[in-house]
Amino acid sequence: RRVIYFSRHGESMANVTGKIGGDTHLSPQGKLYAKKLPDLLHHIMTSKRDSQSLHVWTSTLKRTQETTEFFGARVVARKAWKELDEIDAGICDMMTYEEVEQKFPEDAHLRDQDKFNFRYRSGESYADVTARVKIVLNAAEEWFAAHPRHGASLVIVSHQAVLRCVFALLMGDVAQEEVPYIKVPLHTVMRVEWIKGPGIVKEEKFHV
Ligand code: G3H
Repeated sequence: RRVIYFSRHGESMANVTGKIGGDTHLSPQGKLYAKKLPDLLHHIMTSKRDSQSLHVWTSTLKRTQETTEFFGARVVARKAWKELDEIDAGICDMMTYEEVEQKFPEDAHLRDQDKFNFRYRSGESYADVTARVKIVLNAAEEWFAAHPRHGASLVIVSHQAVLRCVFALLMGDVAQEEVPYIKVPLHTVMRVEWIKGPGIVKEEKFHV
């Protein structure tokens, strides 16, 4: 039995202004989530009898690091993964969807037609992100082998597109075209428990 706690970063300044990607700080609402997250995790871990010793994996971007900055002494290990960074929107990074539509209407159309395979110019597709998050899931398998369940809990704080790809891989039976539309709400902890093998996944969501 494997358990991972997942969360998106708290709301970022780019989220507030409707911009894609970037490397912005948390918004005031996002910071509030970061402040509430340690208690929320403590609460869930107590009720589930999961370890309160945290191994925290984030992306390399400011917003995931800031989301985990109030965890304090419960963090026994921390790692920032490039493979957990948000989908690289290439030339569209820090544009709003309206700007993309205006400047690159054909790209917006192509993305609409096949969002999973559409690769931003100088950037990535969901297919690309899926390939790189496999590296993290393989590392998680090794982590489980090295850490008995009550020794530590693995907490992964990443981004919407990345977590869509992760959840699709864990569930194993999601059609490609559905992956970019999986709902991964903001300001929510997702505790995912599964037994090796596709389809045997239990996901619970906890809101602040
Ligand atoms: O900035 C990227 C978003 O998290 C993913 O949004 O639905 O446009 O892929 P998307």
